Amino acid sequence: MTNHLGNIVLVNSQAEVTFGYNRNELIGCRIEMLIPERFRANHPSLRGAFFGHATSRPMGVGSDLFGLTKDGREFPVEIGLNPIETETGTIVISSIVDISERKRLEARLRVADEAVHQARKMESLGHLTGGIAHDFNNALTIIIGNLDIVRRSGEIKTQRIQLALQSATHGSANAAKLTKQLLGFSRQQKLDPERLSLNVLIKGMTGMLVLTLGTGISLELVLAEDVGTISTDASLLENALLNIAINARDAMPDGGRLKIVTSNSYLDASDAITEDALQRPFCCLVVTDTGSGMTKETREKAFEPFFTTKGIGKGTGLGLSQVYGFVNQSGGCVQLESEIGLGTTFRLHFPRLDSEVIPASF
Ligand SMILES: Nc1ncnc2c1ncn2[C@@H]1O[C@H](COP(=O)(O)OP(=O)(O)OP(=O)(O)O)[C@@H](O)[C@H]1O
Ligand SMILES: [Mg+2]
Repeated sequence: MTNHLGNIVLVNSQAEVTFGYNRNELIGCRIEMLIPERFRANHPSLRGAFFGHATSRPMGVGSDLFGLTKDGREFPVEIGLNPIETETGTIVISSIVDISERKRLEARLRVADEAVHQARKMESLGHLTGGIAHDFNNALTIIIGNLDIVRRSGEIKTQRIQLALQSATHGSANAAKLTKQLLGFSRQQKLDPERLSLNVLIKGMTGMLVLTLGTGISLELVLAEDVGTISTDASLLENALLNIAINARDAMPDGGRLKIVTSNSYLDASDAITEDALQRPFCCLVVTDTGSGMTKETREKAFEPFFTTKGIGKGTGLGLSQVYGFVNQSGGCVQLESEIGLGTTFRLHFPRLDSEVIPASF
């Protein structure tokens, strides 16, 4: 309870607990001691306005209110103001509720909502892309087959027709490559799974990675000795890692560091599609660069096919969509963390086969 001067006249035991003072330290002091410094200057005039027309109402509707504990910790609050008339003038009873937990829950729900929205968007994009790619593939099979028949027939009389045939063959081969990439995104490509160790695969790629990254970028490997085995298509996994490394190189034009880490892992609730996936062990491949990082918009679209920020002729925007499709088709998931100026981290989780271990030194 406070008077019109803003002095605390009475507190209950919950107020002592919430703010960390005992009542003797509070009574007689200014109420401003319980709010963060930056709100203090305005408070007396707001109090004056309230006492001018004192009615029961919530305080500061629409704005975020904060309390300050004795040890300097801020916490979000909701405050109800209830004036009462006494012989010594108007007194205000302020009921202050610590809403930290509610705010935490709201934030967690927001993150979960975004994850669901993102997953649905990728799912429908996958269906759409897969449908088109599938039909396109059938049409291309007919075109390529017939071009082959014409080529083998020996009935090509002029050089002009021969060049036209070469050009058509080249064009349809490009279209077939594109279709394959789109089928990859929509989790419909043919996988040739084998039992493998992330550590062994990465070690085998080190030379190629060093060449790809160039001289200005250092490569650091932190391969956990106890990483389990996974079952996936080795060449598609190599391709995924290469795509990520090329993106990292592009994001570090002035040099930097690419770190590859392996570990055993579990999924957290926002990534596990099923309850079952929460319990199952995974192996994780983490790739971190010290590059430019991504804006929120880029982050949200990075895995979509044809999304690129690299300008015409520089990127097709299919690299990460293939990584996404491939890892999901392998029963895993990809996580992306990236902030402008702070670099980028990709985490690729693959279902762990068993506790069998192929040591990093293999
Ligand atoms: N490591 C990274 N750092 C910063 N931005 C990145 C990184 N990786 C991807 N991106 C962003 O995500 C976009 C999509 O990446 P993706 O690999 O799918 O396509 P691309 O690299 O533009 O083209 P492509 O891989 O087909 O040649 C990139 O254009 C870039 O904006
Ligand atoms: Mg790329």
